[in-house]
Amino acid sequence: MRLETRGVVAGYGSATVLRGVDLTVGDGEAVAVVGRNGMGKTTLLKTLLGYLRPTSGSIQLDGVDITGSLPERIVRHGVAYGPQDEPVFAHLSVEDNLQAARIGRIDAARREQVLAFFPVLGTRLRQRAGTLSGGEQKMLVLARALLAEPGLIVLDEITAGLQPSMVNTVVTALNWEREQRGTSVLLVEQNIDAVLGICDRVAVMKLGQLVAEEKATKDARDQLMLLLAP
Ligand SMILES: Nc1ncnc2c1ncn2[C@@H]1O[C@H](COP(=O)(O)OP(=O)(O)OP(=O)(O)O)[C@@H](O)[C@H]1O
Ligand SMILES: [Mg+2]
Repeated sequence: MRLETRGVVAGYGSATVLRGVDLTVGDGEAVAVVGRNGMGKTTLLKTLLGYLRPTSGSIQLDGVDITGSLPERIVRHGVAYGPQDEPVFAHLSVEDNLQAARIGRIDAARREQVLAFFPVLGTRLRQRAGTLSGGEQKMLVLARALLAEPGLIVLDEITAGLQPSMVNTVVTALNWEREQRGTSVLLVEQNIDAVLGICDRVAVMKLGQLVAEEKATKDARDQLMLLLAP
């Protein structure tokens, strides 16, 4: 799935946060948006998913204008979203969180393949999601996104607070998904090594605009670390 935004301006009430964002994620491409705290990365994702309405600019998915559409419509278009805050339905069981991935039936073979990446979830299916550890909740978010069989996966700091082995699981699972289904990926990430392990391209956000772009190669690592340094 191809995502294309042009000149997106959005914010909260009278506070403008996004100041004209042009972002393209090509069909099958994986792109990361990085930047220091408070630069507008989460605001961008919320706007793409329809939780915030842009005051100007346009957002297209596979050439269809979805500017101002509600989240449920964008999800039905085939976008899976793992938000930064409150990423799971805390009061529902792990199983019910997984079932919420799709309106239609979840394919049994796919379910087995996806849960193989996250063995801990399989042992906790009846547990309330809110009682999982932070890391386990992140695994649940990713599992649910993969079960949605999306055209585009959008994840906001999925690796934040994860131990290294779990970061590796995220990298492996997303690369598997890209290989299997050619899914497009848009990550907001602080972990540059995870970005380089998954993405083709990195865009840098500063004060509500995308100001620089790099190919996600090892050579870009030092420069990206420098850009994110406090
Ligand atoms: N609900 C809100 N109401 C008003 N202002 C908000 C709200 N959420 C975020 N902001 C402000 O918008 C700006 C951008 O915040 P945003 O959460 O998009 O940044 P971010 O790049 O995701 O930061 P972080 O790396 O800390 O997650 C910040 O100045 C923040 O204070
Ligand atoms: Mg954020």
